[in-house]
Amino acid sequence: MVVCVCNAIRENQVRACARDGCRTPCQAFRALGRQAKCGQCAVVARAILDEERAAA
Ligand code: FES
Repeated sequence: MVVCVCNAIRENQVRACARDGCRTPCQAFRALGRQAKCGQCAVVARAILDEERAAA
């Protein structure tokens, strides 16, 4: 599933960021070398980061 349409970031990339220590969408963007644009993905991205961290 594509989480961030603006940057074509997929769910598995966001989960990998969480496993690498990213706690916020901003940190995940930075880790992926991308920048937030419209910001629509922030809520979903945060939920995925939280979920992946909780499962670790
Ligand atoms: S959907 Fe992620 S910045 Fe627009």
